[in-house]
Amino acid sequence: MCSRHWFYCFLVCIVACTFSSAQPGDTDHKEEPVTELGQWMDRMNSAFRKLRRQADNAALNPSSIELVAIMQESAAKALELTPEKTEDLPEGERAKFVERYREELGKLITQLKELEAAFRADDNALALQQIRALGAARKHGHEEFQKDQN
Ligand code: HEM
Repeated sequence: MCSRHWFYCFLVCIVACTFSSAQPGDTDHKEEPVTELGQWMDRMNSAFRKLRRQADNAALNPSSIELVAIMQESAAKALELTPEKTEDLPEGERAKFVERYREELGKLITQLKELEAAFRADDNALALQQIRALGAARKHGHEEFQKDQN
Protein backbone atom coordinates (compact mmCIF):
# COMPACT_ATOMS: atom_id res chain seq x y z
CA MET A 1 0.00 0.00 0.00
CA CYS A 2 1.42 3.41 -0.90
CA SER A 3 2.01 6.03 1.78
CA ARG A 4 -0.75 8.26 0.42
CA HIS A 5 -3.22 5.42 0.87
CA TRP A 6 -2.15 5.02 4.52
CA PHE A 7 -2.56 8.73 5.02
CA TYR A 8 -6.18 8.57 3.73
CA CYS A 9 -6.90 5.61 6.03
CA PHE A 10 -5.55 7.67 8.94
CA LEU A 11 -7.79 10.62 8.02
CA VAL A 12 -10.87 8.38 7.79
CA CYS A 13 -10.11 7.01 11.28
CA ILE A 14 -9.75 10.50 12.74
CA VAL A 15 -13.06 11.61 11.23
CA ALA A 16 -14.82 8.42 12.40
CA CYS A 17 -13.47 8.81 15.95
CA THR A 18 -14.49 12.45 16.09
CA PHE A 19 -18.06 11.68 15.04
CA SER A 20 -18.45 8.60 17.21
CA SER A 21 -17.27 10.47 20.30
CA ALA A 22 -19.93 13.11 19.63
CA GLN A 23 -22.74 10.60 20.14
CA PRO A 24 -25.05 11.51 23.05
CA GLY A 25 -24.61 8.05 24.56
CA ASP A 26 -20.90 8.64 25.07
CA THR A 27 -21.30 11.76 27.14
CA ASP A 28 -21.82 12.01 30.86
CA HIS A 29 -25.13 13.77 30.36
CA LYS A 30 -28.25 11.98 31.48
CA GLU A 31 -30.94 11.51 28.86
CA GLU A 32 -33.46 14.33 28.59
CA PRO A 33 -36.73 13.65 30.41
CA VAL A 34 -39.38 12.49 27.96
CA THR A 35 -42.41 14.26 29.43
CA GLU A 36 -43.11 17.86 30.43
CA LEU A 37 -43.76 16.61 33.96
CA GLY A 38 -40.38 14.86 33.86
CA GLN A 39 -38.72 18.16 32.90
CA TRP A 40 -40.24 19.97 35.89
CA MET A 41 -39.29 17.07 38.16
CA ASP A 42 -35.75 17.29 36.83
CA ARG A 43 -35.65 20.99 37.66
CA MET A 44 -36.95 20.25 41.15
CA ASN A 45 -34.30 17.56 41.49
CA SER A 46 -31.37 19.84 40.59
CA ALA A 47 -32.49 22.39 43.19
CA PHE A 48 -33.07 19.63 45.77
CA ARG A 49 -29.57 18.20 45.27
CA LYS A 50 -27.93 21.59 45.83
CA LEU A 51 -30.19 22.26 48.78
CA ARG A 52 -29.24 19.02 50.52
CA ARG A 53 -25.57 19.91 50.22
CA GLN A 54 -25.93 23.35 51.84
CA ALA A 55 -28.97 23.03 54.12
CA ASP A 56 -26.88 22.85 57.31
CA ASN A 57 -25.07 26.09 56.49
CA ALA A 58 -27.05 29.05 57.91
CA ALA A 59 -24.85 31.52 56.04
CA LEU A 60 -26.33 30.12 52.82
CA ASN A 61 -29.98 30.44 53.90
CA PRO A 62 -30.80 33.22 51.39
CA SER A 63 -29.58 30.93 48.60
CA SER A 64 -31.43 27.97 50.16
CA ILE A 65 -34.65 30.01 50.09
CA GLU A 66 -34.10 30.60 46.35
CA LEU A 67 -33.62 26.86 45.79
CA VAL A 68 -36.84 26.14 47.69
CA ALA A 69 -38.57 28.71 45.44
CA ILE A 70 -37.41 26.76 42.36
CA MET A 71 -38.82 23.59 43.91
CA GLN A 72 -42.10 25.37 44.70
CA GLU A 73 -42.43 26.64 41.14
CA SER A 74 -41.68 23.17 39.74
CA ALA A 75 -44.19 21.50 42.08
CA ALA A 76 -46.86 24.05 41.10
CA LYS A 77 -46.26 23.27 37.40
CA ALA A 78 -46.34 19.53 38.15
CA LEU A 79 -49.73 19.99 39.76
CA GLU A 80 -51.15 21.15 36.40
CA LEU A 81 -49.87 18.03 34.63
CA THR A 82 -50.65 14.33 34.92
CA PRO A 83 -48.29 11.35 35.23
CA GLU A 84 -47.47 9.39 32.09
CA LYS A 85 -48.61 6.25 33.93
CA THR A 86 -52.24 7.52 33.86
CA GLU A 87 -52.64 6.30 30.27
CA ASP A 88 -51.62 2.76 31.18
CA LEU A 89 -54.50 2.42 33.63
CA PRO A 90 -58.04 1.26 32.79
CA GLU A 91 -60.16 4.30 32.00
CA GLY A 92 -62.30 3.82 35.12
CA GLU A 93 -59.26 4.17 37.42
CA ARG A 94 -57.70 7.25 35.87
CA ALA A 95 -59.66 10.03 37.60
CA LYS A 96 -59.00 8.55 41.05
CA PHE A 97 -55.31 8.10 40.21
CA VAL A 98 -54.93 11.74 39.13
CA GLU A 99 -56.84 12.87 42.22
CA ARG A 100 -54.43 10.89 44.46
CA TYR A 101 -51.45 12.33 42.56
CA ARG A 102 -52.69 15.90 43.11
CA GLU A 103 -53.36 15.15 46.78
CA GLU A 104 -49.76 13.97 47.28
CA LEU A 105 -48.32 16.88 45.34
CA GLY A 106 -50.45 19.21 47.48
CA LYS A 107 -48.75 17.72 50.55
CA LEU A 108 -45.35 18.27 48.94
CA ILE A 109 -46.24 21.93 48.31
CA THR A 110 -47.21 22.32 51.99
CA GLN A 111 -43.92 20.71 53.06
CA LEU A 112 -42.02 23.13 50.81
CA LYS A 113 -43.78 26.10 52.45
CA GLU A 114 -42.73 24.77 55.86
CA LEU A 115 -39.18 24.31 54.63
CA GLU A 116 -39.10 27.90 53.39
CA ALA A 117 -40.35 29.09 56.80
CA ALA A 118 -37.60 27.10 58.56
CA PHE A 119 -34.88 28.74 56.45
CA ARG A 120 -36.43 32.17 56.96
CA ALA A 121 -36.36 31.54 60.73
CA ASP A 122 -32.71 30.35 60.45
CA ASP A 123 -33.79 27.05 61.97
CA ASN A 124 -31.43 24.80 60.05
CA ALA A 125 -31.93 21.80 62.33
CA LEU A 126 -35.65 21.86 61.47
CA ALA A 127 -34.86 22.41 57.79
CA LEU A 128 -32.68 19.28 57.79
CA GLN A 129 -35.51 17.22 59.30
CA GLN A 130 -37.92 18.56 56.69
CA ILE A 131 -35.52 17.70 53.90
CA ARG A 132 -35.47 14.10 55.10
CA ALA A 133 -39.29 14.10 55.03
CA LEU A 134 -39.19 15.48 51.47
CA GLY A 135 -36.90 12.62 50.46
CA ALA A 136 -39.47 10.15 51.82
CA ALA A 137 -42.32 11.96 50.02
CA ARG A 138 -40.36 11.74 46.79
CA LYS A 139 -39.81 8.00 47.25
CA HIS A 140 -43.48 7.31 47.95
CA GLY A 141 -44.61 9.62 45.14
CA HIS A 142 -42.46 7.78 42.65
CA GLU A 143 -43.50 4.33 43.86
CA GLU A 144 -47.14 5.18 43.38
CA PHE A 145 -47.17 7.47 40.36
CA GLN A 146 -44.09 6.99 38.22
CA LYS A 147 -44.30 4.64 35.26
CA ASP A 148 -42.17 1.48 35.41
CA GLN A 149 -41.76 1.62 39.18
CA ASN A 150 -42.09 -1.70 41.07
C1 HEM B 1 -38.34 16.37 46.38
C2 HEM B 1 -39.31 15.83 45.67
C3 HEM B 1 -39.16 15.23 44.29
C4 HEM B 1 -38.10 15.23 43.44
C5 HEM B 1 -36.72 15.88 43.65
C6 HEM B 1 -38.49 14.51 42.25
C7 HEM B 1 -37.68 14.25 41.16
C8 HEM B 1 -38.04 13.50 40.04
C9 HEM B 1 -37.17 13.12 38.97
C10 HEM B 1 -35.67 13.44 38.87
C11 HEM B 1 -37.91 12.44 38.05
C12 HEM B 1 -37.42 11.83 36.72
C13 HEM B 1 -37.59 12.86 35.62
C14 HEM B 1 -37.20 12.32 34.26
O1 HEM B 1 -35.99 12.29 33.98
O2 HEM B 1 -38.09 11.94 33.50
C15 HEM B 1 -39.25 12.38 38.53
C16 HEM B 1 -40.30 11.81 37.86
C17 HEM B 1 -41.59 11.75 38.35
N1 HEM B 1 -42.02 12.22 39.56
FE1 HEM B 1 -40.93 13.18 40.97
N2 HEM B 1 -39.79 14.10 42.39
C18 HEM B 1 -40.22 14.51 43.63
C19 HEM B 1 -41.45 14.29 44.18
C20 HEM B 1 -42.52 13.69 43.55
C21 HEM B 1 -43.84 13.50 44.12
C22 HEM B 1 -44.25 13.88 45.54
C23 HEM B 1 -44.61 12.93 43.14
C24 HEM B 1 -46.04 12.53 43.16
C25 HEM B 1 -46.95 13.07 43.93
C26 HEM B 1 -43.76 12.76 41.96
C27 HEM B 1 -44.19 12.21 40.77
C28 HEM B 1 -43.37 11.95 39.68
C29 HEM B 1 -43.83 11.32 38.45
C30 HEM B 1 -45.25 10.87 38.17
C31 HEM B 1 -42.71 11.20 37.62
C32 HEM B 1 -42.67 10.60 36.20
C33 HEM B 1 -42.88 11.68 35.16
C34 HEM B 1 -44.11 11.41 34.27
O3 HEM B 1 -44.94 10.57 34.58
O4 HEM B 1 -44.23 12.10 33.22
N3 HEM B 1 -42.50 13.24 42.24
N4 HEM B 1 -39.32 13.03 39.74
